[in-house]
Amino acid sequence: MPDDSLTVKDNRPGKTYEIPITDGTVRAIDFRQMKASEDDFGLMTYDPAFTNTASCRSEVTFIDGDVGILEYRGYPIEQLAEQSTYLETAFLILYGHLPNKQELEEWTHNITYHTMLHENIKKFVEGFRYDAHPMGMIVGTVGALSTFYPDARHIDDPESREMQTWRLIAKMPTLAAFCYRHNRGLPYVYPDNELTYAGNFLNMLWRMGETDYKPDPVLEKAINVLFILHADHEQNCSANAMRAVGSSKTDPYSATAAAAAALYGPLHGGANEEVIHMLTEIGDKKRIPEFVQKFKSGEGRLMGFGHRVYKNYDPRAKIIKRTAEEVLDLTGRNPLLDIAMELERIALEDEYFVSRKLYPNVDFYSGIIYQALGFPVEMFPVLFAIPRTAGWLAQWREMVVDPEQKIARPRQIYTGDRGLKYVPIGKR
Ligand code: ACO
Repeated sequence: MPDDSLTVKDNRPGKTYEIPITDGTVRAIDFRQMKASEDDFGLMTYDPAFTNTASCRSEVTFIDGDVGILEYRGYPIEQLAEQSTYLETAFLILYGHLPNKQELEEWTHNITYHTMLHENIKKFVEGFRYDAHPMGMIVGTVGALSTFYPDARHIDDPESREMQTWRLIAKMPTLAAFCYRHNRGLPYVYPDNELTYAGNFLNMLWRMGETDYKPDPVLEKAINVLFILHADHEQNCSANAMRAVGSSKTDPYSATAAAAAALYGPLHGGANEEVIHMLTEIGDKKRIPEFVQKFKSGEGRLMGFGHRVYKNYDPRAKIIKRTAEEVLDLTGRNPLLDIAMELERIALEDEYFVSRKLYPNVDFYSGIIYQALGFPVEMFPVLFAIPRTAGWLAQWREMVVDPEQKIARPRQIYTGDRGLKYVPIGKR
């Protein structure tokens, strides 16, 4: 009997099975051989919300949630946030190594020269109502890009995958900025190829009459750090959506629209928006204990706290807290930061949060920075979607060439009726 195996006795027929353990994992399909009778379908595993199921092998991102470690391709997030730029980190995530000088130049060139949007996309954005949620606009328009690039459907062609990767990473900030300016009734600003990825994004958002827009270096750095921190997070809800939708061999724009739609939800990318609403509602440090009591009794959740994987301080939250202080030194103190810091202190001393291992996640402080930068809350998930596009694409590219992957299609435990007799409407 090999050491790395599981001995399972199925008490129904009284049979014993040897299930191999590889990488600390058993294969769910190995349980199918266990049958109560000859015509039984075989045993399935039940794992709603995939809380204990690995859906793929991946080399992109490593997380140790118990200790609070996050690494992209083996590099700790703290080092990347400190020393890298978003575009360099995106390259690392997509291609598995830090680029050398020439690779970085070529990569930067390719991204920079695909930042323009087709003029019809501009009209598409104009078609939304003036107060349309920008994330809703992103979901719609990024999906619409597939109609502009029909070559994207050739997902088995590495050159096509490469081209769509450049286009998506390049165009997301432009799309986001157009959506933002649409909400404000401002004319769209076209990309400026002289600026960095982050600098150009700020230019497209905030340029007014200036002929020579110069982004503030502190804000440009803050955007870079935020983008690096949000670039990937292994098999989260939106990455899983990207992989699941992409597994039907749809084009990457449609799969990205699905991933963005997943990110839109308040339990995922929408959480930082909820954090701002929560902090605003609390309004005063004196009211924190009253709110903490509510959260503990199940009346709402302490938004920005808790994580499916991190049962320790989210390493991104630590970096963001520092960045928030740097940005607020420039833009002026936001009273919400003081409420957030006090709320964190109180929660981390409270038995309810301690025993459930609920710590601040990436969203707890990110909204405060976004607000200090002047973004309305509706833009928060969009600011998450831009950098996460690199992660989604890295996950998608890995999935497309993985011989073990097939169309994602879970099983179910059917709990409904069977074999009913159709009753005409007049007799119901
Ligand atoms: N406030 C209060 N209680 C909480 C919170 C919270 N934020 N999060 C979890 N709990 C409690 C639950 O009520 C549950 O308690 P119980 O065991 O007494 O029933 C226990 O902690 C475990 O919670 P689950 O919901 O089982 O944890 P799960 O892993 O499913 O959820 C999630 C993770 C969705 C992130 C959750 O912690 C949450 O809702 N947090 C607030 C929303 C948020 O900040 N989301 C951002 C996540 S990070 C990201 O997407 C970028």
